Amino acid sequence: MSTARRRVMAGNWKMYKTQSETRAFFAAFLPMIGDAAHCDVVMAPPFTSIAAAVEAAKGSRVAIAGQNSHWQKEGAFTGEVSPQMLVEAGCTHVIVGHSERRQYANETDDMVSQKSRAALAAGLTPVVCLGENFTERETGKTQEVLSQQFIGGPGALTAEEFSRILLAYEPVWAIGTGRTATPDIAAAAHRFLRQCVRDQFSPEAAAGLRILYGGSVKPDNIQGLMAQEELDGALVGGASLDPKWFAAIVNTK
Ligand code: 13P
Repeated sequence: MSTARRRVMAGNWKMYKTQSETRAFFAAFLPMIGDAAHCDVVMAPPFTSIAAAVEAAKGSRVAIAGQNSHWQKEGAFTGEVSPQMLVEAGCTHVIVGHSERRQYANETDDMVSQKSRAALAAGLTPVVCLGENFTERETGKTQEVLSQQFIGGPGALTAEEFSRILLAYEPVWAIGTGRTATPDIAAAAHRFLRQCVRDQFSPEAAAGLRILYGGSVKPDNIQGLMAQEELDGALVGGASLDPKWFAAIVNTK
């Protein structure tokens, strides 16, 4: 089944890299990935480096993403950026509902669904993130949390909207901690999420959805993760900052 799903390798730079650092990254990175024909490659720089990334990635197959966008087209929302603004800047994707935004900017499942809908309406592909935290996993609440985040977030989209998103399973306990989920743990969560999609939408929607894994993905664990049929790619934080490391991840077959 997964052979029909094209792999996506995405980087999330978070609050790292100035414009000049962005140009230096792409100058080193692009020659190392060749045409990367076996997967889609996406990079999400901070807003101020998007223009530099779009320019540097021109003519390559690397798509550029925003790390967040608002649910309105415009308005009195100081500090926010609309999906239309990202499109005009050259983005094709946007990360929605990252756990750091849920944690530090109080993003709710309802905001995640509104933001996803607005991004889709603007023509962006949302990369919708969800995942349980350490306590939730330790107390056996993983499935409950995932199902809640799913139903209130991407599960609230229409079937047509849903068919155009990417999902990212990012267990909070694995983000930036070096504690990657084992391939089996990640696959079990992906399988559960696919079941949620089946229940909410259809078997076809579940079979077609690409689910990325995120949380301490590194060149030395990517192979084991990608060997799992359930994992359709990765959303990489720290290791996407280094052109050699991210190229090694992208080049994994
Ligand atoms: P790390 O790869 O640094 O754990 O970050 C994962 C992540 O949050 C990607 O969005």
